Amino acid sequence: MTTSQDFSQQGPQDDATELSQAELSQWERFGVDTTTPHSARVYDYWLGGKTNFPPDRAMGQAIEQAVPSIKEMAKANRAFQGRAVRHLAREHGIRQFLDLGTGIPTSPNTHEIAEAVSPGTRVVYVDNDPIVLAHARALMVSSPASRTTYIHADLRKAEELFADPALTSTLDLTQPVGLLMIAVLMLIADEDDPWGRVAALRDALPAGSCIALTTPTPDFDPEAVGKVAEAARAGGMTLVPRGYDDVVRFFDGWELVEPGVAPVLAWRPDGEPPADPKAAYYWGGVAIKR
Ligand SMILES: C[S@@+](CC[C@H](N)C(=O)[O-])C[C@H]1O[C@@H](n2cnc3c(N)ncnc32)[C@H](O)[C@@H]1O
Repeated sequence: MTTSQDFSQQGPQDDATELSQAELSQWERFGVDTTTPHSARVYDYWLGGKTNFPPDRAMGQAIEQAVPSIKEMAKANRAFQGRAVRHLAREHGIRQFLDLGTGIPTSPNTHEIAEAVSPGTRVVYVDNDPIVLAHARALMVSSPASRTTYIHADLRKAEELFADPALTSTLDLTQPVGLLMIAVLMLIADEDDPWGRVAALRDALPAGSCIALTTPTPDFDPEAVGKVAEAARAGGMTLVPRGYDDVVRFFDGWELVEPGVAPVLAWRPDGEPPADPKAAYYWGGVAIKR
């Protein structure tokens, strides 16, 4: 289903405790549960956005207590996304992107980054959270030459996704696609087979396609990241940080581009390499299908 309602003028405010019951009810009518924390909104809080409610901020702050630099880490993750999209557009000639687990719009969004390299780029955004759907119009404003679409769907259902007319009318699946899964796979539990789900997505794409993904890891500071996972669990959210080998498996059969799976801060940094590449607890990588 593709929809583009725009409620961005009606979003939660800085202090959502001031939201009236009528405003909260309005979000709830659109399927947004404002009473429990949600990954998209907690992440939005860390990035300094305004699309979050008190339970999201409470969880964001609880995690921040365990990892005081969590907001910087969220920004480092976003910065990786920017560098990866530019790399795919410049070095691999990718002109169409499928951004899975898009999140609440945060400029620069994928289409803005890609269009700056190559006007005419096509982008399909996918998320399964109603609050992202409510803000989808902000993702669908591209330059006249380009084209973006939003699909409210579950990335775990590759077959349905690739049959969606909104996707097939925007992307040419005979041509290489840049598949983005930035900070989303940690929301899929091992029992739900994230590796099998990603394999189904990989298999649907033609040669020359690329994957860029990031995922939080316990490898750099197991204690701190353990507390993050615990805080998420306590709030009813699945959050599975993954070790290096489990992250490499997401790229199975595709060729990792240099430097391979690396701390996001160390993946092709702009300018000087960071003093401590492991200061952001995320692995990131890009691979190509030969
Ligand atoms: C932490 S946010 C990351 C947003 C963005 N990719 C970024 O890094 O800035 C994760 C997003 O993935 C979405 N998501 C989680 N599980 C999903 C699924 N199975 N299918 C589609 N989207 C999903 C959430 O709703 C949320 O918006």
